[in-house]
This record gives sequence, structure tokens and C-alpha cells, in this order.
Amino acid sequence: MNTFDENDQHNHPRPEETDFSRMVNVLLSRRQLLGTVGAGVGLFLGGQGVAQAANTGAQVGPRMSFKPIAANSLDTMTVPAGYQWRVLASWGDAILPGGTGFDPVTRGTAISQSLSIGDNNDGMSFFGFSADHGVIAVNNEYANYEYLFANGRCSSIEDTRKAQAAHGVSVFEVRRIGGVWKLQPQARLNRRITANTEMRLSGPASGSALLKTQADPTGTVALGTFNNCANGRTPWGTYLTCEENFNGYFGSADSLPDNGAFKRYGISAKGAGHNWVPVVGRFDLAKNPNEPNRFGWVVEIDPMDPTSTPIKRTALGRFKHENAEVVVNADGHVVVYMGDDEKGEHIYKFVSAKKFDAKNLKANRDLLDVGTLYVARFNTVDGKAQGEGEWLELTHGKNGLTAEAGFKDQAEILVHTRLAATVVGATTMDRPEWVAVHPTQAQVYVTLTNNSDRGAKPNQAVNGPNPRSKNVYGQIVRWIPQGNDHTSNQFTWDIFALAGNPMLHKDAYAGSSNITPDNMFNSPDGLAFDRDGRLWIQTDGDYSNAKEFAGMGNNQMLCANPVTGEIKRFLVGPVACEITGVAFTPDQKTMFVGIQHPGEKLVPSHFPQGGDAVPRSSIIAISRRDGGVVGA
Ligand code: FEO
Ligand code: CA
Ligand code: CA
Repeated sequence: MNTFDENDQHNHPRPEETDFSRMVNVLLSRRQLLGTVGAGVGLFLGGQGVAQAANTGAQVGPRMSFKPIAANSLDTMTVPAGYQWRVLASWGDAILPGGTGFDPVTRGTAISQSLSIGDNNDGMSFFGFSADHGVIAVNNEYANYEYLFANGRCSSIEDTRKAQAAHGVSVFEVRRIGGVWKLQPQARLNRRITANTEMRLSGPASGSALLKTQADPTGTVALGTFNNCANGRTPWGTYLTCEENFNGYFGSADSLPDNGAFKRYGISAKGAGHNWVPVVGRFDLAKNPNEPNRFGWVVEIDPMDPTSTPIKRTALGRFKHENAEVVVNADGHVVVYMGDDEKGEHIYKFVSAKKFDAKNLKANRDLLDVGTLYVARFNTVDGKAQGEGEWLELTHGKNGLTAEAGFKDQAEILVHTRLAATVVGATTMDRPEWVAVHPTQAQVYVTLTNNSDRGAKPNQAVNGPNPRSKNVYGQIVRWIPQGNDHTSNQFTWDIFALAGNPMLHKDAYAGSSNITPDNMFNSPDGLAFDRDGRLWIQTDGDYSNAKEFAGMGNNQMLCANPVTGEIKRFLVGPVACEITGVAFTPDQKTMFVGIQHPGEKLVPSHFPQGGDAVPRSSIIAISRRDGGVVGA
């Protein structure tokens, strides 16, 4: 989520209440959902999946023996009986030499922030060296100015530098000492990457005229990364950080010419209030109209080399990236699934031209530079909550992507990926957030967090995977690639869970049959499988616990069985937070979870210290008191 994303329903709630009369799809009554979605769990695996399930002895799915917890609105973490949590790291913790630690009075300076963990931790990965030692790379999506600055405002060059230092990525080593994972300040691999770190633009759009600026006439060197939402981890040991709502950092005091690409990407003279434009010239659109083209990418970082240059991989397309789920296909090609989080945007897939080399990991370093980008079309018959789909290739000269259609070359398609997706006929989705691939089966899941425009905008009529107008609750859709081949252009999809409120509704807004009064939630966002095939769902939704959301409490994390469809609430976060980011130690006995923006917009929270402390985004380590596998 991004507080400054004007398209974010949560931060800019619409006044409309759910209007059942606007339900276009009469097939999606609660009763019929039981028939399609509930039975669909069986139907889904009854195809190609069931044979694999039998092979792994997984017909009943992974073990989830913890006692689920009730919803609540407390200003703390709640975990199941037999589990414990500890704070591993928080915004402002020093990780580099000279760092002074968090100062609750001043909230630090630009210098101290650049030596410390950034704000609003989001997607993260753990890279293990041994059972008790590893390195965490974590995104710092944006900054909560109401807490970053003692006076709540970003109003000087020093302030803007501090805000820019609070963005980006934090890399730090951790060690388990006496059974407790601890941040290692000043360890060798510790690093801060900020909105000003030099990066390389690689892949087909590198050097394109659209990426050239006064400061970089080569179009190959970008400064910094920001609004890094979710993430990915490659099998060759690198970290992928994904640039989401980059648009809001740009603006201008001057008026701008009409520009279809700016409009589609939400880039405007007004900006989103970050206040970087007046003090940093490159963010002024009138002066530097190509600067925003250098953001909206997936960036690859080598966490094992703190001197390495991060690389923006243009072959993966430019949009408001959520995560980048990497899977090595059976034939060795690397496939990356990606969501574009905005109402009515799309789901993408990249297939590498070369194959993964498991024997020489360094040989894979540029695999993400050459390949084919696709966007998804979901087909449906009679509005059923399942159907077939296809991947539409985004290659110059194909599917109408020609100079006449406005795409001079492949670089133009990659810089204006959203425009190309519309030309080829991609399906508009309900804000695609994270994509997750099952660890042993060719099944792919995606969170569609919510969409107030569904059924209201001409390009967003209700459709199979997005079946409800004014969708305040969100859903999780999944697909199986044809032949279990992630490079196939065909797939079969269904809906794994339609979030809803069965206490209030009896129709489709009650949710699918696996949503109950005991596990209900809204706005699924973070999504990841653990090694055993448990599906972990994190929410970034309405935490009012009122009206449409009554009974759901604070944002939360749930654990799902992809075979049976069972969903159990595992964790509830503190006041006004979002749960986002999840990583496991290789033994799966510790789970790291991100608590982002507790107390956002001055909603009273003092997490994690309590008392009258300033609330701080934090990474939490969760483990079982008996030392067992988390969730099992
Ligand atoms: Fe930063 Fe789409 O969440
Ligand atoms: Ca998110
Ligand atoms: Ca979100």
C-alpha cells in the first residue's frame, strides 16, 4: 500500500456502500459460489493437479495444527497459543558505522537515516548462510512524514534528503544467539540503498531515447529506487525489489502537455505530496519529462556484495510492480510472475530466453535481461468463477504492437507496458498484488486486493476472476499452466477464496464457502507459500472493525491449505498497521513478518515499544515455543 496512492481505496475510501442491485453476475449468489468456488477446490485439483497431489501424498494438504486466533483491535501482536514473537528490527535502527540509533525526539537526520533501517518495511527475503546466520534484504516502501519528522512536515532540503534516505532497501545480517535472532549492527554485508543510490538500467529499454535525461544522456544510469513494495528472490541468490507507486514523487509547478502515458501511469503536475519536487530538480516533470520513465521497474540487487550496483531489469516491463515471483520451469527457463497494483490493471509473466544453470550460479546473472513478456487474459463462460486463460505476448510486431499503434520498438513497449497490455486485450483485474507459486506443484495464486471501480468504470465490467462490483473485500485467484508448464500460453483458473463478511451478507459479498465468521478478512495483499505448501495470506485493508468490515479487526495474517481450501487466522497486528513481507529461515522454525506503518495518520499506536513511544514499522520474528515448524 502507499499512503499517497490516490487510487488506493483504503486511503481514499469512497462513500458508496455495497449495492447488491448492481451485481451484474447473477450466477454469483452465495449458494452458487458454494457450488462453483467450494466445489471448485476439488474440481481444480481434479484435473492435472490431483496426480501431483497423490505423488506427494498431499491430498489433505499441509498440516496446520495451530489453534486459530480471534480478530481483535489491540495495539499489539497476537499469535496462536504456543507461539512467541520478538522485534527483530525497526525503522531507525542503526546498521552502518556511525549510525546513532533511533532518536524519538528528533527522529534523526538525513545522515543518521542513511545509516539506519528505512521506514515502512515491506517485501523481504532471507538468505541463509548457516542454521544461525543469514542476511535479510527488505524494502522500505515510503515514509510516514507524520512520524519521520518531529513536526510532521517535510519542509526543507535536509528534510527531503532524510525522506529519500528512509526509502529504498535495507540489507542487514542477522544471527541466532541463544535461540534468539538478532540484528547485527555494522556487519560486513549491511547496506542501505536509497532514492539516491546509483543504479544501472539494463535490458532492451536500456539506452532508449525514452530513458535519456539531461543528467544521463546515455539512458543507462538511474539514481535510486523508491516506493519499493513487494519483492522476489532468485534461485541464483539475488534480491528483487519492485517499484510500485513511483508516480506520486514527480510533479511540477508548470503545466504539462497532454500525455497519454503520464495519464495511464498517474503522473501529474500535482504529484502526491511527497514534496521532493521543489528541492530536487529531477523530480520536476516540466524540466525532466523522462525522469519518471526510469522508475516502475524490477531492480535486482546482490545482497552478498555491498559494493555491487543494483540493476533495473527493463525486460520485465514498467508498471506499478507489486512482487516478482520467480520459478524455474521444468525445462530450465526462468519464469517471473508479476502484478500491477492499480484498479483495472493487469497480471504479467516474463519467460527467460536462456535456461537456469544450477551448477554455475553466476552464469545466471543476466537471465532477466533477455526473454519474452506476456500479459494475462482470463476467459470465462457465463460468468462462472472458473475458466481458461491465455498469455498474450508483448513483443514488437506481434498482436498489434506496431509503430502505427504507437510502439516504435520493443523499448517503447517496455516503458509503456500498460498501454501495450490494453492493445493486446489483457483482462482488467481488481488491483493485482502478490503472486505466489506452489513449491512443488504448478499452481499459481494471486491476491486481488479490492476494487471500488469494478462494475462502475466502462473498462471494468464484472468478469469471471473479478466477479463483484464495488469489490471492497478482494479475492484470491489461482491458475494451473497447461501441461504444468509455466512457459505455456494457456492456463486454467478458478477462485480460491472470495473474501467477504458472512455475518452481514448472504450473497457473493459473504464470500466463498471457505470464508467464515471465524476467519473473515478483507483486502488480501502479501502472499507466499512456505516449503511445505502452506499458503500465507497478509492483509492491507480496512481496520475500522465497523460497517462492511465489522468483526474483522486489525490487519492480519492467515494460513491456508491449498488442497482443502481451509483458512485459519494466524496473527493479528497492532493498531492501524498493514501486515506485509514474510520470509522463513531454511528450517522454517522462524518466520519473519513485517508490520508496516502502525499508527499511520496519527491513529494512536505505540507499537512496538508501548508506553508513549513513537510507533515504528518493524520486522518481527515468530517461532514456536516447542521449536517446531511455524504453522505445522
Ligand atoms: Fe504497496 Fe500494492 O501494495
Ligand atoms: Ca502490497
Ligand atoms: Ca495493498
